[in-house]
Amino acid sequence: MLLLLLLLASTCFCVCLQVDGQTLHVSGQKNKNKCVCEVNSTLWSFPALQYEEVLMQVQICEGSLKNLQEQVALSSLRLPQIQSRMANVTSRLEPFQYLHYKGLYNVLSLQLLGEKLNQLETNIGAVHSQLNNAQTQKFSKELGELRTSIDRMQTSDTVNMKIVTDKLRYLKNSVESCKTIPKDFKGTHSYCRNTLMTNISEPITTKISPYGKSYTSGSWGRQAQSDTDSQQNSYWVIALISGHIHGNTLRVYQTYEDFMAAAKHRDYTVAPSYSHTNAIEGPSGILYGEALYYHCYRSADICRYDLITNTVQRVTLPDSGVGFNNKFPYCYYDCRLNSDIDLEADETGLWVIYATVGNHGNLVVSRLVWDTEAKTLNVTQTWETRLFKKAVSNAFMVCGVMYATRYVDEYREEVFYAFDTATGKEKNTLALPLEKVAKGVASLSYNPTNKQIYMYNDGYLLAYQAQF
Ligand SMILES: *[C@@H]1O[C@H](CO)[C@@H](O)[C@H](O)[C@H]1NC(C)=O
Ligand SMILES: *[C@@H]1O[C@H](CO)[C@@H](O)[C@H](O)[C@H]1NC(C)=O
Ligand SMILES: *[C@@H]1O[C@H](CO)[C@@H](O)[C@H](O)[C@H]1NC(C)=O
Ligand SMILES: *[C@@H]1O[C@H](CO)[C@@H](O)[C@H](O)[C@H]1NC(C)=O
Repeated sequence: MLLLLLLLASTCFCVCLQVDGQTLHVSGQKNKNKCVCEVNSTLWSFPALQYEEVLMQVQICEGSLKNLQEQVALSSLRLPQIQSRMANVTSRLEPFQYLHYKGLYNVLSLQLLGEKLNQLETNIGAVHSQLNNAQTQKFSKELGELRTSIDRMQTSDTVNMKIVTDKLRYLKNSVESCKTIPKDFKGTHSYCRNTLMTNISEPITTKISPYGKSYTSGSWGRQAQSDTDSQQNSYWVIALISGHIHGNTLRVYQTYEDFMAAAKHRDYTVAPSYSHTNAIEGPSGILYGEALYYHCYRSADICRYDLITNTVQRVTLPDSGVGFNNKFPYCYYDCRLNSDIDLEADETGLWVIYATVGNHGNLVVSRLVWDTEAKTLNVTQTWETRLFKKAVSNAFMVCGVMYATRYVDEYREEVFYAFDTATGKEKNTLALPLEKVAKGVASLSYNPTNKQIYMYNDGYLLAYQAQF
């Protein structure tokens, strides 16, 4: 807002230049060599907020208020310039605002990218100091390039933010793979060297849940740890008795024959009630060694129920914005209630499959380790994929590779996606069929001891043979 003084005879006019570029004439009295006008201050309102924003964003117009007024008075061109500058800045921010409002990238900001980069630098530093080989040198180099890109983004928006976040994700995954999985596991399990599964058999076991067909959600399988002392040939079933969401009982059969005959089971009560803090949430469980691992009641925690000591240990998933309480369930075709956090086992050990806000609701895979010395559950590595969790019907791990399925029709599912944690590579062109007897898939898990895949298919329990 400018007030220009016009010198006329005894009456004179003041010309007010308004923000929108229009002028306003106000009459006044000549006094010495000034024109004095009374101006109703509500005639215009100075866009103080916008102006401050401009000040902050373009960082000109520093100095005292007096200097500022002089500067403004000096040139009637200044404000339009600032306005166009602001319009420019606003238009450059728009694409990011669009993303923000769409809720796609609620953490998308340069600052956050910077933080992620710092974290990654620390991680690469640690891995580098341990290994210092061509691979870690390559990481450091790629990281340097990424840093340059982000620095450049702070001065101009010419770099596509999505590409940078993708590069960052890729690099992060590579570092996780480096941190590493037992080096010899592919040697002990030679079939794991043949990159991916080639096919899946027809169901080789079909049985109605011992709890009855009305319990449509749960999980089941065979003891998944090969070198365990206890429960070696045992089969287990969990039915989510409360609202198809919560349960507190693990049923174990010592042999396949007992399981098929639904005879001689033993029930373990993992929590005193369905709504206890240690209760089982969602079709998440897996029996591995002498413990049941599962998603604990209404939390971002993984629980470990020890079958020998009857005690529960837990660990919180480390990432920001871990989805639970039905935030990121498996959803392809039909959503499976509270299937947010899924425990799996394979040749390399235990895994957790879930999704985070930080990874935009896409699947995240973490490695879980039970430290027998310290008696703690630890999450040691985390990989982020680009596959939206709600766009798959289930997922499981085989040989360090995560496989995801989708619904084809009432009697068929299909494995269509694989993510290899050893390389960070994704493949979404698979088409491995899985026949089923009912529509809904509550859980799918692989067992490395016999290479079978177990499906809780509404109230039916099915098993398949994986082929390599
Ligand atoms: C200033 O203008 C507003 C609206 O145009 C009017 O309501 C108000 O009475 C005016 N004030 C004076 C002091 O003339
Ligand atoms: C904003 O300003 C930059 C540099 O001054 C220019 O390259 C760009 O084209 C402008 N953008 C718009 C939308 O005016
Ligand atoms: C894959 O397995 C299915 C049974 O699930 C079978 O019908 C099909 O012929 C197999 N495909 C190949 C290429 O072996
Ligand atoms: C697990 O975490 C505990 C405590 O945070 C730590 O002392 C221990 O070394 C970790 N174990 C593994 C195998 O990472």
